[in-house]
Formats: sequence, structure tokens, C-alpha cells
Amino acid sequence: MHLRDQPANASRRPALSPLSERIARRISRGGPITVGDYMAAALGDADHGYYRRADPLGAKGDFTTAPETSQLFGDLIGAWLIDCWDKLGRPASVNLVELGPGRGTLMADALRVGRRVPEWLSAIKLHLVEINPALRCLQASALQDHAPVWHDTLYGLPDGPTMLVANEFLDALPIRQLVYWDGNWLERLVDWNEAAGFHFVLAPRPNALSLLVPEDLPHPAQGSLCELSPAVIAVGTEIAHRIATFGGAALLIDYGHTQSAFGESLQAVRAHRMVAALENPGEADLSAHVDFAALVRVAREAGTHASGPTTQRAFLKALGIDIRADRLKRGRSAEAAAAIDRAADRLTGADAMGALFKVAAITPAGIVPAGFDGPANGGS
Ligand SMILES: C[S@@+](CC[C@H](N)C(=O)[O-])C[C@H]1O[C@@H](n2cnc3c(N)ncnc32)[C@H](O)[C@@H]1O
Repeated sequence: MHLRDQPANASRRPALSPLSERIARRISRGGPITVGDYMAAALGDADHGYYRRADPLGAKGDFTTAPETSQLFGDLIGAWLIDCWDKLGRPASVNLVELGPGRGTLMADALRVGRRVPEWLSAIKLHLVEINPALRCLQASALQDHAPVWHDTLYGLPDGPTMLVANEFLDALPIRQLVYWDGNWLERLVDWNEAAGFHFVLAPRPNALSLLVPEDLPHPAQGSLCELSPAVIAVGTEIAHRIATFGGAALLIDYGHTQSAFGESLQAVRAHRMVAALENPGEADLSAHVDFAALVRVAREAGTHASGPTTQRAFLKALGIDIRADRLKRGRSAEAAAAIDRAADRLTGADAMGALFKVAAITPAGIVPAGFDGPANGGS
């Protein structure tokens, strides 16, 4: 295959890790691979993928998430789930599903709030979609009172009304990248050679992926980059069809943008710092912003009601994070109260998680979930 070289962003290394060697061998045999295939291998390779190894979360790991920042997050999501269950007519049996539950902290906090509504607790059956064995162990101990059932993908979930939560799951799904070059969208691929290591190249000819570039985007300039995630769309479509068929509600929270747009968001994070995306596959978390506009589109096409996307700040404020924080502070020391305030600020700060993270919900037609019913939050 003839490829147009793009600047290498990885330096030469003396010895390849087992995963780098596996990917390099694949490229040497079959030619450059898509960014999606590279991401899938770096994160999900059965032996060496980033999400198959140790617990990546927390101060000693690579990143910290909202539920690990404060119980405020899981508490409010618990209240959201119970309110939705009520709006759904209190079904007697519900699959409560979390995609990528991390250490199980969000679900443990949500279920603790659920103790106040025993009918809800006895209606739910807990299902966790998780590929990381180390995290499955932590989830087992955090959620031992609720007898979770684990799945490798959401396609194995049992039929029935489904209440689903996913925080920072969709951004770990593979994306594909296209670059607008000389009047065509050409796929950006990952190549490897001894001298340059892993590096980006452009495919010589357009492929069918270019048909998926949203039509409502402005005319691209030379070099414009468009990210698409067929994997996110497939997961969003499966969730929406499940809710259209069996009823339920889904809450999707992630790094993302509210409008489809050009630009690169693929990033690699290791030990709380950004590193080069093509350096040391399997050693850093790779993620990309979720196109919430595309998710909302597929939810509506499936006949469900899509709420949002809104910012995490607007969502948590609408659910009453300030009131919840005040309650938690009661009877605590000044130091503990200040820590609660700091955590609330991190979750909602316009210069922190509050603006970077977006939230969308999928419910059956006619049901508007809490957090999206204010004038600023919108839904349709
Ligand atoms: C960024 S962490 C978020 C953890 C948790 N939701 C939180 O907010 O703390 C991503 C989670 O998704 C899981 N994960 C990543 N890719 C996955 C996949 N393809 N299938 C199932 N789980 C996956 C990871 O093991 C981890 O539990």
C-alpha cells in the first residue's frame, strides 16, 4: 500500500514491549492499521491491554474519576435512578447495569442511597460489564451485598427493563480518524517501522468511512481532522433499542462535545500526565471525546426520548448537589466540610470536570428524567 507519511510522534526504543511487538508484527504482515484497531489492541489486548491489567484508578494510578472524587456523585446518581424507576411505573423487576464500573464506587454509593427505598432495592438485579479482572475483584468486594453478575459486553445482558449507567466508559471505545486532504477524506492509520516506531500515515484512497462524516459540519479545510466512533454508535444504538423494547433508562456521562465538530481529541494519560498517544501501547490510558450529538441522534432514531447533552455541572446542580453537600457537611469538622466543598467544586467547576464532562439520558418516549427538566438543560 502506498502511504503518505505524517510526522512520527514516537521515538525509537531499544526493545519493544510484548504488546508493541505484537502490534508491530501485525502491521509488518498486513500493513498499517486503523486508529480504532490500535486503540482496541492498546486497551483491550487479551494479554497485555491497558484495561486487562492492574487497577488504573486513583492517586497512585493514572487518573481519578468523579465517583472516586466524592460520594456526592454516586449519591446523586442513586437518587436519579430511583426517581426514574418511579417515573417508569416502579417495574417489579429491573436489570441495573453499569458499563465499566471501575472500583464499583459509583454503584456502591448509589445502592447505599437506595436503602431508603427498599422496594427499588428488591426490584433490581445488578449486572456489571467489565473486562478488567483486577477491577472485577474490587467490584466484587464493594458490591458483595448485591450479588452482581459480570459480562464481557452489553450484548449478553438478559432481556427486561434496564436501568443503565456509564461514567467514563464510552471514551475508552475505539475511534477512527479521517483527514481532509486534497478534496478527499482519507483515513489516518498507524504504521510502524524500526526507525520511527509507531507513527501516523494517511491511506492513499478514501474508504466507506467517509460516508459517515456528519453532513451538517462546515466545509473542511485542508488538514481538517474528523473523529468517528462506530463503536460508540453501536453501543448507543444497542442501549436505545433495549430501552425502546423493554423500557428503562440510561445515563451516559463522559468527556465529550455537545455538537459534532472537527478536531483531534485522542489522548493518552499515564500517572496523571499526558503522554504521546502512540508511545508504549498498553502502558497509558487512551481515550477520545464522545460525540454526544451522534448518540442523541441514534437514540431518537430508535424512537426513544433523548435528554441533553448538558454539562455535568448543570446536571449535578439540577439534581441538588449543593443541598446534598450541605447535608454531608452537617456535624463534620471544619476540615472535613472544606474537603466536601472542594470535591463539589471539582465535580461542577466550569474549569474542571463540570464543563469537560457531558451528560445525556435515554428514556422511553414521554419520560423526562430528573436533571434535564430545567430550562438550561433541554431535551426532546
Ligand atoms: C475510565 S474507567 C471508569 C471507571 C468508573 N466508571 C469510574 O467512573 O470510576 C473505565 C472503565 O471501563 C472498563 N472498560 C474499558 N473498556 C472496556 C470494554 N471494552 N468493555 C468493558 N469494560 C471496559 C475499565 O476496565 C474501567 O472499569
